[in-house]
Amino acid sequence: MYKITLIPGDGIGPEVTDAAVRVIEASGVKVEWERVQAGAEMVVKHGVTVPDEVFHSIIRNHVALKGPISTPIGYGFASANVTLRKRLNLYANVRPAKSFPGLKSRYDNVDVVVVRENSEDLYSGLEHIVVPGVVESLKIITETACTRIGKYAFEYARNFGRKKVTAVHKANIMKLADGLFLDCVRKVSRDYPEIQYEEMIVDNTCMQLVLRPEQFDVMVMENLYGDIISDLCSGLVGGLGLTGSANVGEAGLAMFEAVHGSAPDIAGRNLANPVAVILSSVMMLRFLNEVPAAEKIQSAVEQVFLEGKTLTRDLGGTASTTEITDAIIAHL
Ligand code: NAI
Repeated sequence: MYKITLIPGDGIGPEVTDAAVRVIEASGVKVEWERVQAGAEMVVKHGVTVPDEVFHSIIRNHVALKGPISTPIGYGFASANVTLRKRLNLYANVRPAKSFPGLKSRYDNVDVVVVRENSEDLYSGLEHIVVPGVVESLKIITETACTRIGKYAFEYARNFGRKKVTAVHKANIMKLADGLFLDCVRKVSRDYPEIQYEEMIVDNTCMQLVLRPEQFDVMVMENLYGDIISDLCSGLVGGLGLTGSANVGEAGLAMFEAVHGSAPDIAGRNLANPVAVILSSVMMLRFLNEVPAAEKIQSAVEQVFLEGKTLTRDLGGTASTTEITDAIIAHL
């Protein structure tokens, strides 16, 4: 029996995490969920988006499954998501995007993994008004974090039998910051002679991803580029409803969540696609070494897509969150 922290989040969060909990239960893996809350509601009650009990719970249990949490745009409190990743030092954000056979999307040959640095860059939250009308926003890049994420990407490639790592950057403009990132990853690459290494400027990368996504394998990048490129990769395989992710730190700490946000436009209507958070659970089960259960769930999702009868609206179908979850469970 595992004890795992569950943060349902807001918007579609509770609906999609409920679906994942049901699927994990049906896979036969026994979990006692420790439910804790983070987000806007907590600001009213506790004065912070992430109360201490959330950190304590994750540190105690080591592993968390999390629904999306909304962040106000352009004003208000700092992102609970960024706070969680930073304070728990979950420095690597792993976001795979893979085409599903049978599922209609723009491409059928995508299999990329975005490894996003999760602890610094323009997400440092260091912004100030210099004089009215002029804002300075600080991009922090350190040798330690760049080397650490470079190593993570190459180790990931080695462990999962991947052939190539692409470092994505804008060092032609940010010569110091992105230059440092490249120097660090390049140095790391020398320890992995069996893995091909290449560097690509971020704007060209976007164009190449749309034109020929099959050329990419593992991609490693700073925080902001990773945030944007991973949504792009979700779009390549059929949308945000399909991509899970892991936030991994040191000492066995990890938090699993969908790439997507709280989707307020469809929240509370049983319309959300739960597959992204279900695939995040698959990553979580692999992390826990529950490989047969992870593979069973992955294959159940693939079967549902191959049949093509029970698809949510984002995938061109009419099924509800509950109906697609039931279909996945039926295949278990
Ligand atoms: P979003 O990812 O919530 O939604 C973008 C579009 O994709 C919307 O049209 C939405 O309906 C659709 N979508 C997303 N997930 C879906 C799913 N599972 N099934 C079907 N359709 C889905 O991004 P948006 O609108 O930019 O952000 C909304 C809120 O989410 C913001 O407050 C943002 O800060 C927060 N957010 C939280 C994240 C997290 O908790 N890790 C990540 C990204 C955004």
